[in-house]
Amino acid sequence: MGFFRIRCDNAWAGALVRLWFARKNEIKGYSMSDVLSDAALAQLFLDARSHNAWLPKDVPDTLLTRLFDLLKMAPTSANCSPARFVFVKSPEAKARLKPHLSEGNAEKTMSAPCCVIIGQDLAFYEHLPKLFPHTDSKSWFVGNEQKIRDTAFRNATLQGGYLILAARALGLDCGPMSGFDPSGINAEFFSDTTVEANFLCNLGYGDASGIFERSPRFAFEDAARIL
Ligand SMILES: Cc1cc2nc3c(=O)[nH]c(=O)nc-3n(C[C@H](O)[C@H](O)[C@H](O)COP(=O)(O)O)c2cc1C
Repeated sequence: MGFFRIRCDNAWAGALVRLWFARKNEIKGYSMSDVLSDAALAQLFLDARSHNAWLPKDVPDTLLTRLFDLLKMAPTSANCSPARFVFVKSPEAKARLKPHLSEGNAEKTMSAPCCVIIGQDLAFYEHLPKLFPHTDSKSWFVGNEQKIRDTAFRNATLQGGYLILAARALGLDCGPMSGFDPSGINAEFFSDTTVEANFLCNLGYGDASGIFERSPRFAFEDAARIL
């Protein structure tokens, strides 16, 4: 009898929770399991391009804050969030950036409304007591140099990818770049810190006249398999 009542209660509780979620989704106007519209998929992936030329349109600081508030919610291992971001906007800050860019990246970066330096903080694990408080995750890293480097690089790179998608979701275009002198950027922007540069990404509103023809991509069977 007791068992029957518990099963009954669980069934009722389950039904109520499902009802609550359905109602919540109805109020929000979407469900987490919805597939995005074709327009959204085009904006994020299918029509989005890496840009080389920029329209003279400002990217306001409030939009950069919004961009960060989106990307920070995407997952990292143990929520370690090692990426650090320097949004280079002012002419003075751009002048500090320019000498460390490869020749092909210099002019287009100077004309972009913003260039973000995505870096990784190698002392990210110091923040784990706050970011992952339910266990002593800091102790997984202390003294393990290789694990620190691997984790910082993997997760900051992911966060850089999240930045690109968040920027596109907010209507911005991106121009990611690895053509720069990392030691120069590190000395100029991260001296006396535990942060090092990962990659750069121009942000703004792209001028479509500056993009190359789309390069081919692998077919599923060339790059993936289902086991
Ligand atoms: C991490 C990364 C580094 C890149 N480095 C450069 C770069 O230094 N200079 C450049 O012109 N493009 C660079 N690109 C742009 C790529 O060449 C471009 O994203 C790729 O060819 C796909 O182009 P599409 O997005 O227009 O299809 C980089 C892209 C990524 C993601």
